[in-house]
Order: sequence, then structure tokens, then C-alpha cells
Amino acid sequence: MVTLGVLISGRGSNLQAILRAIADGRLSARVAVVVSNIEGAPGLAHASAAGVPTVVISHRGWPSREEYDAHLVGVLRAHHVELVCLAGFMRRLTPVLIDAFPHRVLNVHPSLLPAFPGVDAQRQALEHGVRVAGCTVHLVTPTIDAGPIVLQACVPVTDDDTVDTLAARILEEEHRVYPEAIRLVSEGLGRVEGRRWISTGRTAPLSDADGRG
Ligand code: GRF
Repeated sequence: MVTLGVLISGRGSNLQAILRAIADGRLSARVAVVVSNIEGAPGLAHASAAGVPTVVISHRGWPSREEYDAHLVGVLRAHHVELVCLAGFMRRLTPVLIDAFPHRVLNVHPSLLPAFPGVDAQRQALEHGVRVAGCTVHLVTPTIDAGPIVLQACVPVTDDDTVDTLAARILEEEHRVYPEAIRLVSEGLGRVEGRRWISTGRTAPLSDADGRG
């Protein structure tokens, strides 16, 4: 069973999806700690409700990003974290954290990367006029939203979509694929070659309980 540390800044719906996958037995993991850089982030309440310890480390007042990340590494290590999951954590990470967990930091992004990195990905997709959008789970590297892609899922964009309707459709897929990607990485069912994640094991979804297999 892998020990996870989940980093959030806000709502925490992906955190909830991870906790659900664990509770359902689809993911053999334990969330040891949830860290937020924002005091009062709604996701912290989800963690507490699930009995998961929470830590708030404000990003304000640190002399450098590196010192913030070093402190964060200390907190994650103190909770014996093996795999770090960014779930709406709105901070760019430095090599101080990334190198402390080599190929063991994951992020979920609401676009089919490399299209639309950065903030407001769903708005970028809608405004660009793409017909297909989606989400990406990738390993984190110092370049934002650019690390090896573990899983992607796509959704259609309809003519009457707003940013909110498109974001909601994408979010459903995030909740489906993020726990599955965590499973693949934590069970060692792939390896990194250059900028590619190469699957070496079964890549079927964790469960077909949601009917989409
Ligand atoms: C998600 O859309 C995720 O892709 C992005 O931030 C959002 C976080 O949502 N990185 P939540 O806090 O997990 O609900």
C-alpha cells in the first residue's frame, strides 16, 4: 500500500475522488497528510471528515520558493509520504521538492496537454474552439504542466458549452483517471523514458463500476 501526500489549494474534489477510490478498494493507498497553502481551503474539511491529518503551510513570507519547498518536503517526509499528488495545488514547485521524490510527484491538469498549460485551461480550450477537450495526469517536472504523461481522457466540446459546463465535464474525467494514474505509478506499472511514460503493466482502468470501463 502506497502512502500518499495530497497537496491542495482549494475545493478538493480530486482529493475526494482519491479518498473514494481508496474507500472503494480501487486504490491500495493511504492518504497520510493533506497540505494546503491556503488557510480554510474547502478541501481541508474533506480531509478532516475522512480522518486525514491536515497541515496548512502558507506560501507567504518565505524568502524563496526553495525554502518553502524544503519545509514542505520535511512535512511530507515526517508523514512517510512516498507519492505526492498535486490536486489543485496552485504553486509552482522547485527541484527541491521534485528531486526529493524522483518520478513520484503527480499532477492533474484540466486540458489535453501539451495544449493549454497554465491557468484557465478550460477557458483557453473553449476560446480556441477545440472540438475535443480533456484532462491529463502527468509526472511533475520543473517546467510547468510538461512532465511525462501517465493518462489522458477526452470529452467532447459542444456548441452550447460555457466554461463552467465544459469544466464540469472535464472534472468528471479527472476524478476517474487520477486515482487510476496513482495506481499505475504506485504499483510500478510503467517507467519513464525521456519525456515518455511507458506502460509496462496492465493499463485497464481500476474498475468498470462507473460503466465506462
Ligand atoms: C482541477 O481542475 C485540476 O485539474 C486543476 O485544479 C482543479 C482542482 O480542483 N489542477 P479540485 O480542487 O480538485 O476540485
